[in-house]
Amino acid sequence: MAIIASNFKTNHTRKSTNEFIQTVNNYLVENKISSEVYVFPTSTSLDTFQTVSNFFVGAQNAYATKNGSFTGEIGTEQLDEFNIKTILIGHSERRHILGETQEEIAKKFNFYKELGYKIIYCIGEPLEVKQQGLEKTLEYIYEQFIGIDTNYENLILAYEPVWAIGTGVTATNEDIINVHGAIKEKISKPLLYGGSVKVNNVREICSLNGVDGALIGTASWIKEDFIQILKNTK
Ligand code: G3P
Repeated sequence: MAIIASNFKTNHTRKSTNEFIQTVNNYLVENKISSEVYVFPTSTSLDTFQTVSNFFVGAQNAYATKNGSFTGEIGTEQLDEFNIKTILIGHSERRHILGETQEEIAKKFNFYKELGYKIIYCIGEPLEVKQQGLEKTLEYIYEQFIGIDTNYENLILAYEPVWAIGTGVTATNEDIINVHGAIKEKISKPLLYGGSVKVNNVREICSLNGVDGALIGTASWIKEDFIQILKNTK
């Protein structure tokens, strides 16, 4: 059974989010979809998911706090209002654009772990590391596990090579099999692949050894495409 997750990033309004989730939810209700489906909308649309039942909704980000003085952030007091118990942590854009350090990421991980949240934890190397070969790539990735309890029961991992995110350049099957195989040897948790997963390659990627599903950005933002992705992986 594949795990399929859509990360909206900074896309969709409340109106279009609502249309998306109603359409996807109807599809899931009417069809026998065995995939476990996750959607990570913007924080401003988290409440629009209160009427759907057939998939999990998660926060793209939240601070390691219940509440307090952390301008621009949300905490568990806000997530609780919408019964959100799933969170993405360690996404490449938070690491590389928003500047989150491994220490901050580990702190966030441990905070949400203590509260029992389901955590989708992202790892992945930039292009200059990939170019140095598999050994260096794995070294880089293992550093992204510092401070992370990889035995946590509610953990799903997502391997997202930075150079494949939003670029249209998907990792090759060989790249994916090598990295997933190495991670799986050390950590026995569901492991998703992310990085230019599309309607026409999702089935093949999800069938590779060591791949338990996909974390998808661009190709999941149009509801018809997301439904096609679900069809292709059911
Ligand atoms: O979290 C999903 C993501 O980073 C991959 O984005 O646009 O390459 O599917 P995209």
